[in-house]
Amino acid sequence: MKKITFLFVLSFLLHNLSFAQNTKRDQFVSALMKKMTIDEKIGQLNLLTGEATTGSAVSSDVELKLKAGKVGGIFSLSTPEKIRKAQELALQSRLKIPAIFGMDVIHGYRTMFPIPLGMSATWDMDLIEKSAKMAAQEATADGISWTFSPMVDISRDPRWGRASEGSGEDVFLGSKIAAAMVKGYQGKDLAEKNTMMACVKHFALYGAAEGGRDYNTTDMSRVRMYNEYLPPYKAALDAGAGSIMASFNEIDGIPATANKWLLTDLLRKEWGFKGFVVTDYTGNNEMIDHGMGDIQTVTAKALHAGSDMDMVGEGFLNTLKKSLVEKKVTQAEIDRAVRLVLNAKYELGLFEDPFRYCDENRAKTEIYNSQTRAFSREVASKSFVLLKNKNNILPLKTSQKIAVVGPLINNKENMAGTWSVSEVRTNSITLMEGLRNTLGEKTEILQARGANIYTDPTMDANAAVFGKTTDRDNRSDEEMLFEAVRIAKNADVIVAALGESAEMSGESSSRSQIDIPENQRNLLKALVKTGKPVVLVLFTGRPLVLTWENENVDAILNVWFAGSEAGNAIADALYGKTIPSGKLSMSFPRNEGQIPVYYNHKNTGRPHSGKPGYEKFRSNYLDVANEPLFPFGYGLSYTTFEYGDIKLDKTSMTEGQQIKVSVDVKNTGNYDGEEVVQLYIRDKVGSNTRPVKELKDFKKVLIKKGETKTIDFSISINDLKYYTNELQYIAEKGEFEVMIGGDSDKVKKAGFDLK
Ligand code: BGC
Repeated sequence: MKKITFLFVLSFLLHNLSFAQNTKRDQFVSALMKKMTIDEKIGQLNLLTGEATTGSAVSSDVELKLKAGKVGGIFSLSTPEKIRKAQELALQSRLKIPAIFGMDVIHGYRTMFPIPLGMSATWDMDLIEKSAKMAAQEATADGISWTFSPMVDISRDPRWGRASEGSGEDVFLGSKIAAAMVKGYQGKDLAEKNTMMACVKHFALYGAAEGGRDYNTTDMSRVRMYNEYLPPYKAALDAGAGSIMASFNEIDGIPATANKWLLTDLLRKEWGFKGFVVTDYTGNNEMIDHGMGDIQTVTAKALHAGSDMDMVGEGFLNTLKKSLVEKKVTQAEIDRAVRLVLNAKYELGLFEDPFRYCDENRAKTEIYNSQTRAFSREVASKSFVLLKNKNNILPLKTSQKIAVVGPLINNKENMAGTWSVSEVRTNSITLMEGLRNTLGEKTEILQARGANIYTDPTMDANAAVFGKTTDRDNRSDEEMLFEAVRIAKNADVIVAALGESAEMSGESSSRSQIDIPENQRNLLKALVKTGKPVVLVLFTGRPLVLTWENENVDAILNVWFAGSEAGNAIADALYGKTIPSGKLSMSFPRNEGQIPVYYNHKNTGRPHSGKPGYEKFRSNYLDVANEPLFPFGYGLSYTTFEYGDIKLDKTSMTEGQQIKVSVDVKNTGNYDGEEVVQLYIRDKVGSNTRPVKELKDFKKVLIKKGETKTIDFSISINDLKYYTNELQYIAEKGEFEVMIGGDSDKVKKAGFDLK
């Protein structure tokens, strides 16, 4: 009781403290706004870029505009020197309002971590939070105080290149990661010198683009949005994210940037979001092509809908004043946006000290050091997913002679993956360097390129945007293949490092066929034909179709794009210094025709029985099974785990009660290893149809060789709630199934009732 009173008093005090601070902030901002002219106000809503990143538009006359108070913020500019210079210009404006400096710090700043899809495969929230914290440490040491991350768009379509930037297909896992990232970036206080403001993106439903084609239309029912797509955005905001980015796509026929239902009714009124909304890159201007009107019309619509800051396109800057005069927007709408942008600057401490993040000494010591690199190596190894390991061919033995083959084995630029804007490309450790570091200089390692990424030079060029080279080799496919087979014949085991280049995923990198390009597959076939064991080390930014590979190679280690220490981490895993423990956050389809394929689908009225083979008049395909090749949650280890039966402390519960669930997991193999124990629930009868299973909890545990651990969960009414057609969030009485396993497919089952 005492503890409760104490907590109550504490939370009361904290609440009032933050209220007092907000009052102080609000007074400050109000006083400042009173002094501002309309031009100065509109200037605050203008976000420019130091350089072109993802669109063709580049900001011009940035210096003059800064001095004239026509810029609220700049992104893609870094180093304390450059940012100090830009800030000095902003401070030459009449009211000396500091600018905010942003950057796409997506998976690390200078020290790169695995691509977000890889990070999500760690299922390790502490690790993910720490990676965001470290990224904030580095970025703020280099002048940046605002990141366009986390990207929390749920995606069930691996054709979409930006699946690489998110946390996969599941709303529960995605929400946990969203919150962990925000906490990592923002810490407890945004004004601390080593924390930065998060920007949740892309609001909303960007990952559901039709056909997996980037920027394409999305269209879905409200009930699906609420249950399956919106929760990660909400989780990030509940964790305190200070800003949110409108997505490029339309929703219900209106682009997100000008969608009032989305940006005001849902975001502000229903969810109570108090931060600001930034458009995506030229998101305003793109509404002209969406067919929403001319630039003045679309920007007025955007402001009215709830967009506050205009990224790059300068539509607000050039038209809002006219729109105000012509009564197309109101003063109150402009003031709302200005206030929210100024609030953010206040929270970041920029009014108190505009040079807060310009500490040259920090830049020298806190960026890319032995500590950050060691952590990156650890995270990388935990992101790897072992998809196959026939006859325990992995880990390799140092006594074996290896042949290493693949287009990227010596390529530093492609190790970190897409959206590594602030990496120093020469920093990354390649696979060959990693193997050298592990095996020492004296061990002979056979190597050959074997193939280009693609045979077609145009495709190769498409796979190398942002200036990242694939080091194209001018020899013919046959020549390269012949050389690779020749050396492979002299080896005990072949390590074939194949797949995608870094820029084959990411923005505007959608693919209609998501396999390993044909020339690389031909190489793999030839290597398999040698009869030597083949380990496929898979570079990829998305789930690929690996049906042939799974049938024909001995082992598949999916290493994504693993960041600065990729090569070292891969070598660690290949030689058993680390034990793979990653689990997929997105299903790997058997072929493209199965897409979208995801674990938490509905049952339909004519479900397939689950027995092998096609069934007439059932929901299935003539030519392929319904199940993906590798399901959500899947990933092997060098050791094995055996699951006992599920134990429940009771088989029925009422609202307010909890059911304690436990399962014994035994490490039955030869290594200590980590396992992600996953708990799924099925609501067997509802007033809406319910998914066949939904992830509701998980625990990542280290289990020693031979050891059995009891893993405990508890289920409460909150785990059983969902949005009905009327968007009521309720749990319905009746039968539930609880499932526990090491992936979404292989599970133990038990049942209980909600009374
Ligand atoms: C992307 C965003 C990114 C922005 C700024 C856009 O093209 O969609 O994710 O934050 O560019 O670089």
